Amino acid sequence: MRIPIRVLTALFLAAASGAVAAGPAEAATTLGASAAQTGRYFGVATAAFKFSDTPYMTIVNREFNSLVAENDMKWDATEPQQGRFTFTNADRLVSHAQSRGMTVRGHTLLWHAQQPSWAQGLSGAALRNAAINHVTQVATHFRGKIHSWDVVNEAFADGGSGARRDSNLQRTGNDWIEAAFRAARAADPGAKLCYNDYNTDGVNAKSTGIYNMVRDFKARGVPIDCVGLQSHLGTGLDSTYQQNIQRFADLGVDVQITELDVQQGGNQANIYGAVTRACLAVTRCTGITVWGVRDSDSWRDDNPLLFDAGGNKKAAYTAVLNALNAGGPTTPPPGTGACGAQVTLNSWTGGYTATVRVTAGAAALNGWTVGVTVPSGGAVTSAWNATNTGTSGQVTFRNVGYNGQVPAGGSIEFGFQGTGTGPTATPTCTAG
Ligand code: XIL
Repeated sequence: MRIPIRVLTALFLAAASGAVAAGPAEAATTLGASAAQTGRYFGVATAAFKFSDTPYMTIVNREFNSLVAENDMKWDATEPQQGRFTFTNADRLVSHAQSRGMTVRGHTLLWHAQQPSWAQGLSGAALRNAAINHVTQVATHFRGKIHSWDVVNEAFADGGSGARRDSNLQRTGNDWIEAAFRAARAADPGAKLCYNDYNTDGVNAKSTGIYNMVRDFKARGVPIDCVGLQSHLGTGLDSTYQQNIQRFADLGVDVQITELDVQQGGNQANIYGAVTRACLAVTRCTGITVWGVRDSDSWRDDNPLLFDAGGNKKAAYTAVLNALNAGGPTTPPPGTGACGAQVTLNSWTGGYTATVRVTAGAAALNGWTVGVTVPSGGAVTSAWNATNTGTSGQVTFRNVGYNGQVPAGGSIEFGFQGTGTGPTATPTCTAG
């Protein structure tokens, strides 16, 4: 039967508009495809020596749209002798990713661990020069092929100090990190440049130390684009996990979950789901990488991954896929009112700065007012992008001339500084 051309056009239009305008998209069936629905990637750490393992590669190729080298791009792997670079395994990983349309995270240019022994024996200017040369050579070799580089890995100390970790690199001078970022930018201007660390899975002293460094880098124009939260997790998830992602995003950097794995136990699937939802809730959280394919591939011995040794999907896998399919940020946060306000605090002993995000509801705002309860004993000392009435107790912040109009579902930010402890209650937000 011949179908008249006009009918074909109508059928085509119906199909095309259906694909765009229909209700929720059909649930994707792989992690990468599902993450891509919100513009994110879902990646996995791999090792080139396993590329001949068929069950392993079947999962890698089916599920993921980003790869990172678990070890093949580290300093000991890429520059085993000073000035002699070996990229065979790393190149294999990159070309495999490229052939399948996957992006690549680069891990890592400088780190205190897995250094070649020749570098471990250097110090002072000799080590600094060798380190910066390493950054330049490796980033140049992969120029144009890396989505994001972990330029510096794990440079902060654990515990309550919020300070840098002691290492041979740190002993070359506190500016070694910014020198590395500048060298990486010069070598590969297209790659996003990340600082990556662990035990940063909530608002704590270590993550605050990193936060302060990133804020300082942004203020001084040191090139940094992203922060990696490794997220090697145990049996619980810090209640401030999402808040921590948000506060980095609010500094103007992307956040990536870079090495996710979670101790097997009653909560594993829930924690995987919660981490995924937290990332999706923050627009600038742009991707998640799990640190290995099957439990048997993991560097840990507590079965922390999404596939069991037989390559079967675990409950944790389903939790992640469902969370990814549930979609991106829901705006506005309060859901019902004309607008909502969320506070992110950066606190120190005796003071804090607060960043407040005001999000419009279903209708555009033409002016807004936010009410904040300042804990007793403290006071607001300055505000930006808003004017305040009162400084203690109930304090009201109103828009200024240029940020009163917020489109439906859109948001703006203002901030204030205060003495004492920061407000903990969710502020009120009213239109007008
Ligand atoms: C681990 C690898 O998984 C292991 O195979 C290797 O023996 C040691 O390093 N933080 C990081 C990763 O940034 O590079 C580490 O990877 C895990 C902790």
